Amino acid sequence: MPAVAAPDTVTCRGERFQLYLDEDTIQARILELGQQIEADYAELGPPILIGVLNGAFMFTADLMRAIPGDCEVDFYKLSSYGDAKTSSGQVTELKDVDAKLEGRHVIVVEDIVDTGLSMRYVLDQIATRNPASLRAATLLRKPDAAKVDVEVDYVGFDIDNLFVIGYGLDYGQLARNLRAIYVLEEEG
Ligand code: IMP
Repeated sequence: MPAVAAPDTVTCRGERFQLYLDEDTIQARILELGQQIEADYAELGPPILIGVLNGAFMFTADLMRAIPGDCEVDFYKLSSYGDAKTSSGQVTELKDVDAKLEGRHVIVVEDIVDTGLSMRYVLDQIATRNPASLRAATLLRKPDAAKVDVEVDYVGFDIDNLFVIGYGLDYGQLARNLRAIYVLEEEG
């Protein structure tokens, strides 16, 4: 598919957002993460990526394609933010993983770690299935928003405590299809 250039500003639900991370920057960092994962799992064996839906579907797909060697994928679905710009603090499971994770090398893949509650929840759930190893990856992380301690092994970008959309991240379910990441204009 030919690339469509990402615009500098977009409007979503009547609010203006400006370009924050362009497509090339995102993809270049994902390639680095893929190489790092490839090297880390060379001895261990193929990892299984568990993408956390809905937000991480795009990052999971690109991260998987950035790993040259064998790897598998499955998905875990959590409830979303709803229409708000701040986390409700409530994490609810909507769909469990289908794959058997016992003895597997699992990497949980999130779009963004904000309060950290979602990542903590998924890691705790998966830890009960006795994986051989368990790591976490996220495209974005907001260190200043952290409410729980969660170690993330693969981080694309640490960002300020800003509301961002695009590349899987939504505002009231819209904007996930944007190829770049945008920040609310009044915040950026
Ligand atoms: P946490 O549980 O507070 O860490 O939030 C994790 C989830 O909230 C992510 O998987 C996103 O779906 C959503 N989220 C957090 N920050 C943002 C944002 O800036 N824009 C859009 N969604 C966000």
